[in-house]
Amino acid sequence: MRIQPARRLRGRVRVPGDKSISHRAAIIAALAATGGRSRLTNYATSADCAATLACLGALGVPVRRAAGDALEIEGSGVRLPHAPRAPLDCGNSGTTMRLLAGLLAGQPFTSTLTGDASLRSRPMRRIVEPLVLMGARVMSEGGRAPLRVEGRTPLNAIRYALPVASAQVKSCVLLAGLNAGGRTEVVEARGATRDHTERLLALFGADVRTELKDYEGRPAPFVSLETPVSLRARDCNIAGDISSAAFFAVAAALVPGSDVTLAEVGLNPTRTGMLDVLRRLGADVSVTGERTESGEEIGELRVRGRDGGLAPVSATNANVLGGELIANVIDELPILCVLGTQVEGGLEIRDAGELRVKETDRIAAMVKNLRALGAEVEEYADGLGVRGRTRLRGARLESFGDHRIAMACAVAALIAEGESELEGAEAVAVSFPEFFTMLESVTER
Ligand code: S3P
Repeated sequence: MRIQPARRLRGRVRVPGDKSISHRAAIIAALAATGGRSRLTNYATSADCAATLACLGALGVPVRRAAGDALEIEGSGVRLPHAPRAPLDCGNSGTTMRLLAGLLAGQPFTSTLTGDASLRSRPMRRIVEPLVLMGARVMSEGGRAPLRVEGRTPLNAIRYALPVASAQVKSCVLLAGLNAGGRTEVVEARGATRDHTERLLALFGADVRTELKDYEGRPAPFVSLETPVSLRARDCNIAGDISSAAFFAVAAALVPGSDVTLAEVGLNPTRTGMLDVLRRLGADVSVTGERTESGEEIGELRVRGRDGGLAPVSATNANVLGGELIANVIDELPILCVLGTQVEGGLEIRDAGELRVKETDRIAAMVKNLRALGAEVEEYADGLGVRGRTRLRGARLESFGDHRIAMACAVAALIAEGESELEGAEAVAVSFPEFFTMLESVTER
């Protein structure tokens, strides 16, 4: 795909439903008491979330497309209707695989989870370990998918301290906990992560609580779930995906004269770190009409591009991202690298080694693409550093089959001089099939 620079971006966009919330809403709706029908609106259009629906269908969960963009899912209770007749294909979706593994661990049957080459290369030991502690048998080759999950009923309820800050691992254990006897507890020992699973379980009637308590001398969120649980079907309107909105927000912040409004975006505080980063680096960001819908904060986001570019407004270390902030902005780091090339003082990202085990090695991918554009980049084991206020030149860019790398490159191409060519642009369909059409609709040349 060829991409020309933008003069400015102006207009209003409504990004599709949140990917993380959509997976969870579908799974939890499927677990509602038998016969209860949940209606999900604004369900993500992403290929990843379609993979979750297909897997639920293969487990006997009735999933129907209803009028408009609604989806109707009939609950079967926390025991699924039947074993899958073939391996469950999670495609490119780590969330599908890790969350479903938790659910399948507590079923009275054996199932296999597999996915594409990228997913089959990603670390799964992080979920195998707690599921085995809970009493399931999970077989893998070298800690990678395919995973063969021999379920056990009931599972043991455990307290598990997360060795990595991962919402997928937390959610895996909590979903397994629905089929465990007693109280399952997850300690977010490495910092808080997105809490959509907890919020949705609570919305559907589960007894789930989060308390900040001392863990090894530091405060950490303790998430607990009590069984038995009976989930009630609910209608749920899914917030727009802030991780998709991020590409528009950064593009608007970077191009002077831009003015972009992002309607009905999810503003859950475990996901809005990117807005704080934008603000502290001097971007003009405002939020209006904040309200709560289906248990999640939602509102309208407006970003305007300042003349004169971006410069930090807060004093200490505004140009360094690290520590517990990382989990909050994990999916926004590729686009924040692009932002860093333009900010006074550049940007340093640390403590983000997890980026190396995403859909691709996102550190290596961004280093390569940014260097091709003429940016000055230093690569670290756990992040990267980019020099600021750099003129980017159009270049040949490569998604490495990763949706967020493709979108970050597309935005970089808008602010570069001359034409760029993006290899593997079709990867955007994994989270945001409408990305290029929506981006064009607000781009002036
Ligand atoms: C997600 C959690 C994050 C994130 C991913 C979606 C989720 O992954 O990067 O895109 O929906 O729980 P980890 O849990 O591996 O950090």
